[in-house]
Amino acid sequence: MDERKWVAVLSFLLSAMFSLGVYAISPGEIDPLVYDEQLLWVSGAQGEVNTYRIPLLTFTAKGNLLAFAEARKHSSSDVGAKFIAIRRSTDKGATWSPTSFIVDDGTHPDGLSLGSVVVDEEVGSVILIYSVCFHLYLCSPSSTMMVESLDDGLSWSKPRNLSEQLGSKNFAAGPGFGIQKRYNPAKGRLVVCGHGTIEGDGVFCILSDDHGRKWYNGAALKSIPYNQKKKPQDFNPDECQPVEMMDGSIVINVRNQNNYHCRCRVVVRSHDGGLSLPIDDLYFDYTLVDPAIAAGALQKDGVLYFTNPSNEQHRINLTLRWSLTNGTSWENKAVQIWAGPSGYSCMTSLDSGSAEDRKYIFVIYEKGHKDYDETVSFAKIHLYGGF
Ligand SMILES: *[C@@H]1O[C@H](CO)[C@@H](O)[C@H](O)[C@H]1NC(C)=O
Ligand SMILES: *[C@@H]1O[C@H](CO)[C@@H](O)[C@H](O)[C@H]1NC(C)=O
Ligand SMILES: *[C@@H]1O[C@H](CO)[C@@H](O)[C@H](O)[C@H]1NC(C)=O
Repeated sequence: MDERKWVAVLSFLLSAMFSLGVYAISPGEIDPLVYDEQLLWVSGAQGEVNTYRIPLLTFTAKGNLLAFAEARKHSSSDVGAKFIAIRRSTDKGATWSPTSFIVDDGTHPDGLSLGSVVVDEEVGSVILIYSVCFHLYLCSPSSTMMVESLDDGLSWSKPRNLSEQLGSKNFAAGPGFGIQKRYNPAKGRLVVCGHGTIEGDGVFCILSDDHGRKWYNGAALKSIPYNQKKKPQDFNPDECQPVEMMDGSIVINVRNQNNYHCRCRVVVRSHDGGLSLPIDDLYFDYTLVDPAIAAGALQKDGVLYFTNPSNEQHRINLTLRWSLTNGTSWENKAVQIWAGPSGYSCMTSLDSGSAEDRKYIFVIYEKGHKDYDETVSFAKIHLYGGF
């Protein structure tokens, strides 16, 4: 072949590689950069709402972004009346709709608690699981509730009471996202994990094999001593974020409420689609130091990501870490997203397979200057340093 033909063949191959995304940047080149950041909610700025907390973030099956938060009407307290607030983005987070409220608990003394958002990619629905009366403050019993959207978050069903199927128990989903299993075992199953009350605490998963019509109780990892008042350093697994790994197992990253064994995260794994969480697979991740808080986890293209305020004592220093070894080790080069007060966080990404969508993950987190509950911020992270 002459030189011109070589150039033609070479440029054809290169453009084919680019368009197929074969020229995927390798995980070893991950160098995350905060590419864009916007405040989605500012506490106290709007008449009806005192404090926005507990942010959730997800892409829908059609590629729209949905952000949710508790809109606490009268104070920053966990109890009290609330709305569930939503904002939508149809351009991958560049612009956002105004806030609307999709659930209103009226003047409830305890009110609603978020919650997990689950996207069912097989039917294109978005399901939000929350609880009412979780703290049993001037009310009883606690109920697990669900609302559903069939139009990418524009409109929502009336609340459904899942306690009729699950039994009455204190169950606070997430906070974070629930998963739909993409791989076997139990491909297609919806898995939502959360925790119980402080005395009867532990990690519990609820499951649905028919796109959210019927729910049943799955795995339980109970606290010790169960149903009894805890002391410092008791085993008390609490708020949690499940992620599906590429072998079909579910890894759950858990808040270690009473600092049992370490001031760090508890990790537990289910090999049967959320039916059980064997103690044999439980470990403490000493690298993931934690002030006992709800954290973010995400598996994208075989890389595991983790966000939390990386500090043993205080809710400050929101940090992004990543693991190329399914969480058995973490890269040394962690990225600080916010040095100051920071709280709960949740991550999402779009797994469309396109080269562009492989470059980004998105984080929503509580962020402030004096207190972590001043704002809810949305950060677009470029995984390859802007390249
Ligand atoms: C939900 O159903 C349970 C069981 O039937 C019931 O005890 C509870 O009061 C219901 N909660 C709400 C908010 O309707
Ligand atoms: C912030 O997190 C990083 C990574 O874990 C850690 O090295 C650093 O000491 C933390 N800083 C503070 C002030 O907690
Ligand atoms: C991570 O998990 C995947 C899927 O099970 C496996 O193929 C890979 O070898 C694992 N990586 C490491 C470093 O263990």
